[in-house]
Amino acid sequence: MAFTKKTVRDIDVEGKRVIMRVDFNVPLKDGVVTDDTRVRAAIPTIEYLKENGAGVILMSHLGRPKGDGPEPELSLKPAADKLAELTGYDVKFVADTYGDEAAAACAAVQPGDILVLENVRFLKAEKKNDPEVAKKLASYGDIFVLDAFGTAHRAQGSVVGPAEFIPAVAGFLLEKEVDTLTSIFAEPERPFVAIVGGSKVSSKIGVLENLIESADTLIIGGGMAYTFFLSKGYTVGTSLQEEDWIERAGEMLAKAEAKGCKILLPIDNVVTDHFGEDAVGEVVDSDKIPDNRMGMDIGPKTEALFSEAIAGAKTVFWNGPMGVFEFDQFAHGTEVVARAVADSDCTSIIGGGDSVAAINKFGLADKMSWISTGGGASMELVEGKALPGVEVLLDA
Ligand code: 3PG
Repeated sequence: MAFTKKTVRDIDVEGKRVIMRVDFNVPLKDGVVTDDTRVRAAIPTIEYLKENGAGVILMSHLGRPKGDGPEPELSLKPAADKLAELTGYDVKFVADTYGDEAAAACAAVQPGDILVLENVRFLKAEKKNDPEVAKKLASYGDIFVLDAFGTAHRAQGSVVGPAEFIPAVAGFLLEKEVDTLTSIFAEPERPFVAIVGGSKVSSKIGVLENLIESADTLIIGGGMAYTFFLSKGYTVGTSLQEEDWIERAGEMLAKAEAKGCKILLPIDNVVTDHFGEDAVGEVVDSDKIPDNRMGMDIGPKTEALFSEAIAGAKTVFWNGPMGVFEFDQFAHGTEVVARAVADSDCTSIIGGGDSVAAINKFGLADKMSWISTGGGASMELVEGKALPGVEVLLDA
């Protein structure tokens, strides 16, 4: 068990007011939640607290409000409504977070009640972890529960602050996420195949370096592959490339070889002459990308190569698409990889972000062992960093 902090199971919540930080940072369209994954993910802990006699006060951020004061399009009311719809509970909402109205609503919370506060980021001081914010939020409850895995990498007032004033424990989602994402690196069933895609080497350097330490095979796809090609002396036409990272990419390839981690790069690619929905692809080998072409997806030989490695895996970690999957004509490589993971007999951990969007697009979510609800937070864990939100919780 990789999780070393106390959870809601380890503390008596009966008759207590619990202030619980969730990650209800959900996509909205016309005031309606369009993907309720994060709301669903918080329900087990909310249910547990309610059934065990606690009154539950929920708080979250939504989006990145610009200043102090309410921004109606970033209100948490739609998330509160979604929670009510999914659970059938009477979920109350108060359009205030730090003022008298919120304080009064929290003081009125009785065992079994559920109250959602307004967006914690409607006050700039929250992001700076202002002690006054922390103190205020802590004053609403007897116990602080952190279940906002997706925000646990942010040392912000509502994430880490209340732990300074009242006992702080983890919810079930946080526990499961940290446990899953850390134990695959500590003791993966082998072969352990990691797949990393997405556009930039620079944004995933820590992830790549950590994976080289623990994976048997590291598959690299997506836009970042072209910077690796440059380090091998290939030309990449007008493909995405990060000149400042070519040397580091080359060092990484050498380091992987020394460590016995096999790196698989694309051997062929779907390229086109411009970036657009109407762009038409053609397949070329990786060392033959014409000067006026840009890579948009992996090619068929690469699909076969990657699929074979995935089929033989016992553990797969995946983060980042293989190509520009938002355009259907360049989604094939990502889809083939997603299907290979889904069909493989492995434990499959999907590390948040665009790969989750891709898996949802292909309807394969229920075929994966675990899909993280955190983007940045899961990447930081995979990089081997400690998450501030977890650090402040009581030790088990
Ligand atoms: C996320 O969506 O990754 C989390 O909710 C964190 O959001 P933030 O990057 O705005 O802090």
